[in-house]
Amino acid sequence: MCGIVGYTGPKEAYPILIKGLKRLEYRGYDSAGIALLNSAGLNIYKKKGKVADLEEFIIGKNTHGNTGIGHTRWATHGEPSDRNAHPHRSAGGKLAMIHNGIIENYNQLKQELLNKGYSLQSDTDTEVLLNFIEEIKNKNQCSLEEAVRIALKRVTGAYVILILDEENPDTILAARKGSPLVIGIGKGEHFLGSDASPMLEYTREVVYVNDYELAIVKPDELILKNLGNETITPFVQKLDMELAAIEKGGYQHFMLKEIHEQPHTLYDCFRGRLDAEAGLITMSGVQQYADELVHAKRIIMVGCGTSWHAALVAEYLFEELCRVPVEVEYASEFRYRNPVIRQGDIVVAISQSGETADTLVAIEKAREQGAIIFGVVNVVGSSISRITHAGAYTHAGPEIGVASTKAYTAQLSVLTMMALNIARMKNTISEENFLHLLKELQQIPEKVSWTLQHNQHIKDMAQKYKNAKDFLYLGRNLNFPTALEGALKLKEISYIHASGYPAGEMKHGPIALVDEHLPVVFIATKDKVHDKIISNMQEIKARKGRLLAVITEGDTATKEICEDTMVVPEADERVAPILNVVPLQLLAYHIGVAKGYDVDKPRNLAKSVTVE
Ligand code: F6R
Repeated sequence: MCGIVGYTGPKEAYPILIKGLKRLEYRGYDSAGIALLNSAGLNIYKKKGKVADLEEFIIGKNTHGNTGIGHTRWATHGEPSDRNAHPHRSAGGKLAMIHNGIIENYNQLKQELLNKGYSLQSDTDTEVLLNFIEEIKNKNQCSLEEAVRIALKRVTGAYVILILDEENPDTILAARKGSPLVIGIGKGEHFLGSDASPMLEYTREVVYVNDYELAIVKPDELILKNLGNETITPFVQKLDMELAAIEKGGYQHFMLKEIHEQPHTLYDCFRGRLDAEAGLITMSGVQQYADELVHAKRIIMVGCGTSWHAALVAEYLFEELCRVPVEVEYASEFRYRNPVIRQGDIVVAISQSGETADTLVAIEKAREQGAIIFGVVNVVGSSISRITHAGAYTHAGPEIGVASTKAYTAQLSVLTMMALNIARMKNTISEENFLHLLKELQQIPEKVSWTLQHNQHIKDMAQKYKNAKDFLYLGRNLNFPTALEGALKLKEISYIHASGYPAGEMKHGPIALVDEHLPVVFIATKDKVHDKIISNMQEIKARKGRLLAVITEGDTATKEICEDTMVVPEADERVAPILNVVPLQLLAYHIGVAKGYDVDKPRNLAKSVTVE
């Protein structure tokens, strides 16, 4: 949450910062701001709203400066407003700072400042920290760097901060704990960002800054230190990301582009791992901990939101194929319980961004207690990917639409391959079943492609249902999580209330909601519980509910009892969740668009949830 960007070098900073902020807007879009340093001093411009509002506000103003920082905010402390937008200026006027994260003990620091006579201009924890730093600098007559080091030792919480100082006009001071920071190395210039997207066209060489590190960034020098003032050699990595991956490529929204990318992302996810002809699955992370995974007494899966839904699907697969007990936990709950973790337990952390604060802390806690942590992560080099013992990247490429789509299907694919790989090592799967499922998996990208051809039909359906006030999504077995995911997508994008439920549970309560206005979406593809689902559908029909369903191609009997259907090709039920969610993604997308909402930036949300 919150995107940060910085530049220092020979170029004008403003266009680089604005473009960078637009790319980082998926991280928050409550307000945006920029601070620029030039010979006349510090210029700060900030505005409530999106980056485009800031850009309009700045027209005609002085944007000259070769060093600058920018911020796009997802509000934590203080409502979205011009006043609470970043950058903040220190009381002394010479420092400007942006921040991503939360300073948990800000109230205590604020009290100290108020006792010293400070008055604050905003409601933010950021302004408190900035003035706390300035106060230390003045009191100790020390450098800004030293003051930051002292201040950060007092701070609890998560942060990436970037600070400009009028007294050092070509320098950006940066520090990180718990929120992401990437530094791009150019020729005589440096770029900073929450991810690498703002620097893609300028450099391929990046340094991922670690927790408790401080960076002093000048045009031709990058000094990295720890909070103990020891210098650290930066570990320079090559970026493996193309510009096209972060552009819309002719689609109206990133979400639609990402839904349509799925045949390719799934193919990328299988490439080099799945070989159905040779009957092989090769996952280096699994091989690395083969012994532990085979002998695990229990697997705990943690994640949030959509990633938690992927964990629920995996629970069915691992239990059936690997015969190992699986527990699925919301990371945000797991971390505050006192979970029983034994040596040798395997914790699988699932995260698109690799930066979700709840998931990060949950696995830190499990790791301390002796668990082996396996990551299923999309963003390469992200915090979660770096603190796991081993893992498998999902290779879905950058996901920019706030609602997760292609990352989910890639998570399901990785988890299915993992289950198959472990089952084979444990001998809990027959050769025939193993080979059959490999073939089924391999065919998934093509089947997703076929499903996407029904986009127009789903768009037409969206017009019909866009004014519904509530939706119910029902599924059984492996498609219960599909129902949850379909409902979550609709809520996020269209602001229509939607509940996902196991179809068999409907009669224990939710059936009371059913009337002639309520659309009920069933995941009713052909599988071992198909007959049960049909009975549940009849129960809804008998109460005049509006029946919609995802059905298997050619299933005319089910089609006949529905008001509308979305068709997918036949697939083994154990891989079907990867396929069945695709029409539900499209339905949510088209309803959101039909209602006139900005589906890539739904209200109140942000892509990477780096606060608790
Ligand atoms: C839903 C969505 C969120 C995320 C959740 C976890 O469309 O995107 O529910 O799935 O915030 O994020 P990651 O996977 O980045 O840990």
